[in-house]
Parts: sequence; structure tokens; C-alpha cells
Amino acid sequence: MSIKLMKSLCVGALLAVSGLGVASVASASEDGGHKMEHQKWGFNGMFGTYDADAMARGYQVYREVCASCHALEHLSFRHLGDKGGPFYNPEFPNPSDNPDVKAFAQDWSVPDIDQDNGDPIDRPGIPADKFPAIFPNAIAAAASNGGAVPPDLSLITKARTGGADYVYALLTGYHEAPHDVDMAEGTHYNTMFPGNQIKMAPPLFDGLVEYAARTVPGEHGGEAHTIAAPEATAEQMARDVVEFLTWAGDPKMEVRKKLGFATFLYLFIFSLLLFATYKQVWKGVKH
Ligand code: HEC
Repeated sequence: MSIKLMKSLCVGALLAVSGLGVASVASASEDGGHKMEHQKWGFNGMFGTYDADAMARGYQVYREVCASCHALEHLSFRHLGDKGGPFYNPEFPNPSDNPDVKAFAQDWSVPDIDQDNGDPIDRPGIPADKFPAIFPNAIAAAASNGGAVPPDLSLITKARTGGADYVYALLTGYHEAPHDVDMAEGTHYNTMFPGNQIKMAPPLFDGLVEYAARTVPGEHGGEAHTIAAPEATAEQMARDVVEFLTWAGDPKMEVRKKLGFATFLYLFIFSLLLFATYKQVWKGVKH
């Protein structure tokens, strides 16, 4: 193999490694040109992780507020108890055995079929069920919401430019309409929504849900501990529900980032070894 070829192989490997880093930084800072404030989220960046307490509170906000209009069709109840999810409990590696997950599932009514006569029935949910649809169809959803269909929220932070920042800015973006703006009937002024007129009434206001202190099981068999609840301001609820929805849209993010970093490290060490080998092989050869 010629020295030139060896050199370009080494440079290529190094470029590939550094390219990975650059790509992840670029996608994290992209906001599609929208003017929305960047929030500090623990899940951003190369080592980002979700905050389980914020997700648990966010689930409460979803359940008590958003779920009267928005579905979460891509999620099953048992996902709430997956490793990395809001209600993971190391005592119950199988989330279907997790008592919290069972209780949450039971709290929902899920459509099914009577096994004796085939009639459509509603029964309490079980962990294996998917989150049920809120409206029977899009026409019914639109009819109940002034003509607009509340979108499914399972992938909403992926489906909108700006992701988590956009959804947070939308939820906290309601204001009095300026005097020179003619508002269409049934719409609400929102600085973030395209066109500023949204058919979703402001869903959050201070004190809407009651956050309770939460007892979480200790990691690796450690002591359970209690986490105090923050004040349920509209901003806090918006942050928490966005944390929950971001996880719902990308539950494997933490695993992916860990794997990405391990790959990065592997390629980096590999390229150093390659370079050292090249130096060793050609030591003392005049070139
Ligand atoms: C009373 C029903 C109702 C409730 C409660 C509600 N929404 Fe909505 N939401 C809607 C409707 C209707 C739309 C569609 C609005 C439109 O297109 O004008 C919508 C749209 C949205 C959108 C999409 C906006 C876009 O860019 O298209 C998001 C995100 C959203 N809601 C999040 C939430 C969250 C989070 C909650 C709970 C905190 C919530 N909503 C509570 C009815 C509701």
C-alpha cells in the first residue's frame, strides 16, 4: 500500500469521526428560522437525558388536561414503565407488572368487543393496550372543536419545526389580540401559531392541576425517596408536558445517544491505532 493511500485512509477515518460530532451539533441547533426562544432542556445535546420527575408530572398534565381532546395513539400504557420512561421501577423490569402502570391503564376506558356476543363495549385498560382514540373519527373531533381536529400528540415534537421549543412556545404563547387584528370566530390569539389564530383555547393556567410529592424507588435496590413537587404554574405545566411528549416521540433517545458516543469513541481510538500502525510500519523508511 502506498504511503499516500495510507495517509488518506487515516485522514478519512479522522474526518468521519469529527464529522459525526459536527452533524449532531448542527441538528441540535437547527430551528427552521422560527423566532422562538430556545429553552434549556436536559434532553438536548450529545449526553442529554430525560427528567423522569418532569415526565411523570407531564403525564399528569396530559391525562388531566390535554387528553380530553388529544390522543397519543402510538403509545401503549406499558411504555410508561419502560426503562427510561416516566414510571420505570427497577423492581418491575417487565412494565406490565408495574403497579403504577396497571393503575394508569385502568384509569382509561378502552373500546373492545364482548367475547360472548360480539357487541362493542368499553372496558378498563390493561398495560398492553394502546392509548385509546379520544374521538370516534376526524369529523366528530372537528365538530367538537370549532372545525379544527386536535392532532395526535405522540409525535408532535418531531412533527413541528422547533420541536420541544415550539410546543412550549405555543402553550405559553396566548395573549390578548392586538386591536388591529380581526379574529375569526372561535379562534384565540397565539404568537407562536402560524397565522396567530388557533382554535385551541388556552389549555393551561396557574394551579390547573395539583402536583403531589412523588416517592420514587431507589436505583439498584437503594432506599426509596420523596421528591417535592414544584408549583403548578402554567409555565411549569407546559415544560413538564413537553418533557413527557418529547419522550413519547423518541423513547429510545437515551440508548441511541449512548450507542452513538460509544461508536464515536471506537472510531476515534481506531483511527489513532491506524495512525500508530502506519508510523510503525514505515519507521526508518525514507520517503
Ligand atoms: C378542548 C380541546 C383541547 C385541549 C384540552 C387541548 N387542545 Fe391542543 N389543540 C386543540 C385543537 C382543536 C387544536 C387544533 C387547532 C387549530 O388547528 O387551529 C389543537 C392543537 C394543538 C397543537 C398543534 C398546534 C400546531 O402547530 O398545529 C398542539 C402541540 C397542542 N394542541 C397541544 C396541546 C397540549 C400539550 C394540551 C394540554 C396541555 C392541549 N393541546 C390541550 C384542542 C385542545
